[in-house]
Amino acid sequence: MARKKITVVGAGNVGATVAHRLVDMDLGDVVLIDVIEGLPQGKGLDLVESSPILGLDVRVSGSNGYRESVNSDIVVITAGIARKPGMSRDDLLKTNTDIVRGVTREVAKHSPNAILVVVSNPLDAMSYVAYKVSGFPAERVMGMAGILDSARMRYFIAEELHVSVENVSTLVLGSHGDEMVPLIRYSTVAGIPLSDLLSQERIDAIVQRTRQGGAEIVSLLKAGSAYYAPSASVAEMVEAILKDKKKILPCAAFLDGQYGIKGVYLGVPVKLGSRGIEQVLEIGLTLEERGALHRSAEAVRELISRIQL
Ligand code: LAC
Repeated sequence: MARKKITVVGAGNVGATVAHRLVDMDLGDVVLIDVIEGLPQGKGLDLVESSPILGLDVRVSGSNGYRESVNSDIVVITAGIARKPGMSRDDLLKTNTDIVRGVTREVAKHSPNAILVVVSNPLDAMSYVAYKVSGFPAERVMGMAGILDSARMRYFIAEELHVSVENVSTLVLGSHGDEMVPLIRYSTVAGIPLSDLLSQERIDAIVQRTRQGGAEIVSLLKAGSAYYAPSASVAEMVEAILKDKKKILPCAAFLDGQYGIKGVYLGVPVKLGSRGIEQVLEIGLTLEERGALHRSAEAVRELISRIQL
């Protein structure tokens, strides 16, 4: 069987760490692309030089162009500028729209059958840009955010209750921004509803910390934003697709009427397999939860309305 080919666009902290995880997990050959001369080549060579120690016959290459990426199975788009302290993800809109538009054109030309996983912020709007510019079917264009936001919430709960992170399951839907929708009713610890284990006050504090999870890292790092947990989230998506796992994960998907929402990208539970988003799951929501999801969708719609493609 031919080895899978995964291209990662952007060799900054997120892109390089994604490439690192993909190599470590032996998911396929990796092409790292960046506009900065020498950066993707250097990081790619460094990565592939770890292969003898890992015992992996993987190919990793770095490039400033897209020729090496031809016919990739998956392309992860991390290109763009990251937040600085005090900036919201939305402040990145104009600059990153220009970058993601340019990248997507090249990707669509060189890898017309690829599945695109968008990581650039503001996430939901950049996923929309990649969808529109590529012309790919919606099932092949998705954004990474819900896994990251859910993982943060899982960690905070596990830390609070002194239990294994493996026991904690959460579901964070909506936009990857201030309007994200952490669903308490769908959060459990070893199957036990969270509300049986924590006071409303502690739950509210965890929800608030989850919403601010990205900003908390930005304020600590001062230059740049998170990349270890984001890259782990991307790797989970890539693995689910390449191994056709049919794994249900919260991802940014194009909604065409699901949840009564149309024409925007938004975090919802999806089934990931070899065809990409094989299904958008519509779970039952209370009126309040549905209202929160719709507010989230309106925030994304407002951002999208400011984009000129
Ligand atoms: C975060 C950025 C990457 O949530 O959006 O950390």
